[in-house]
Amino acid sequence: MIAQVKIFDTTLRDGEQAPGCTMTLREKLRIAKALADLRVDVIEAGFPAASPGDFEAVKAIADENRGPIICGLARCNPEDIEKVHLAVKGADRHRIHVFVATSAIHREYKLKMAKEEIIRSAVGAIRLARELCADVEFSPEDASRTELPYLAEVVTAAIDAGATTINIPDTVGYSVPAEFDKLFRYLREHVQGIENVTLSVHCHNDLGMAVANSLAAVSAGARQIECTINGIGERAGNCSLEEVVMALRTRAEFFGLETGVETTRLYPASRLVSSITGMQVPRNKAIVGENAFAHEAGIHQHGMLQHHSTYEIMRPADVGISRSNLVLGKHSGRHAFRDRVRDLGFVLDEFETNRAFQEFKKLADKKKEMYDGDIEAIILNVDSTSAGPWTLQSLDVRSGTDRIASATVTLQHEDGSSQNKTANGDGPVEAVFNAIEQATGVPLILKDFAIHSATAGDDAQGEATITVEYNGQSYRGHGTSTDIVEAGSRAYLEVSNRILRRRQRGLDGLLDHPDINRASI
Ligand code: KIV
Ligand code: ZN
Repeated sequence: MIAQVKIFDTTLRDGEQAPGCTMTLREKLRIAKALADLRVDVIEAGFPAASPGDFEAVKAIADENRGPIICGLARCNPEDIEKVHLAVKGADRHRIHVFVATSAIHREYKLKMAKEEIIRSAVGAIRLARELCADVEFSPEDASRTELPYLAEVVTAAIDAGATTINIPDTVGYSVPAEFDKLFRYLREHVQGIENVTLSVHCHNDLGMAVANSLAAVSAGARQIECTINGIGERAGNCSLEEVVMALRTRAEFFGLETGVETTRLYPASRLVSSITGMQVPRNKAIVGENAFAHEAGIHQHGMLQHHSTYEIMRPADVGISRSNLVLGKHSGRHAFRDRVRDLGFVLDEFETNRAFQEFKKLADKKKEMYDGDIEAIILNVDSTSAGPWTLQSLDVRSGTDRIASATVTLQHEDGSSQNKTANGDGPVEAVFNAIEQATGVPLILKDFAIHSATAGDDAQGEATITVEYNGQSYRGHGTSTDIVEAGSRAYLEVSNRILRRRQRGLDGLLDHPDINRASI
């Protein structure tokens, strides 16, 4: 029987730690659902002790209980461990993941702890976690820069204390495949009882080798890979889930291993994560980049016409890219729309389908032809087009090379009132944002504004992502339109509405995002 490698997804924990990648509870729940659809084995849903928001998110994901093991991260102290237990215990299958740094650099400069102290702290934490939960993972942080004999000592103690998974992190992305292979073989040779636990690998991508190092580890006996969608994560990111999974599948004859991942869900999951985080996937990114299956050179196109295997080692459909020549338009009905959504790999409930179809009809009135990218953009943004209290009724923008940009916006409030405001700005986008701010009364400090084209062509939709600051907290908003100024204003209005809804619920001033006051790891 072919051996299985477990896929442990940490998009919602390590991925979310990346600058600018914090997510709201609703966004995390959407991603958790996509991960369950992908059939990952473990979802690391967060770090509950980091903030009340993190705790709530992990608990909400665990309580949904969609299938994968739900895991939470803890430092080696009772408060962290008990918080993880409270947060994850709603899931039928849950895990407590404890970690402590072991390398000389971390011992001396960060922890100021001696080797024996670190072992005592890990053992105490693992024992406590085991009293609460049968499934306990232990990570010696910065393992790849830890002296091998000491690392083996720590891991032996962790297994004796009851850890069921031992995860070896290359925390700073320093290792190289041949060296990492040796490290895993060393541990398998020198740690008694290692054959009774799952050996796991967790790589960062600082030197661009996270996937290669993870594959070296599985070749040397690791049977769990920790990774994130699109490789998001601290600094240069983590091992990319889609790359490592497709490497194992495409080169199955070499690795002799398989995962349980439903690979046709990879592309939709990647689009969802990039749309929520605003971290665009580079065009040439392996597996899910726009160019990953594009063939430009004549000689390649000729080969492809003879047989796809000449230049293609995977089929786009294997990863859920189902580019079709079928173009939808304003006369397309609900059935055609629903079929396309399904073919694109998205699963929408009745309510979401209705809302997405309404948006589709609105857009089809403006745009002659609707491509797959347009439909994806509608689905991914259907959340942000929803709730008020304010909706954009009209927008009039004037700008030019020798005039000050000005914008007039009319917003309609759900209580029936409306506001009409005109403002100037340093360019049309700033003028619109100023006018919206006057209308809603919500002062936002703009930190970042990015626009991404959903499809090709001059009537393509622009997907705008803005990052703003309000009351010291950072918020992200999304908006789409064929007009980029309108897309930006929808994103701006979405954030303003979110803040106003929080005010209505008496939550103004409370932390919504876990990036502020996050306990540092
Ligand atoms: O990179 C790392 O060392 C981690 C651990 C907490 C597993 O993320
Ligand atoms: Zn990490």
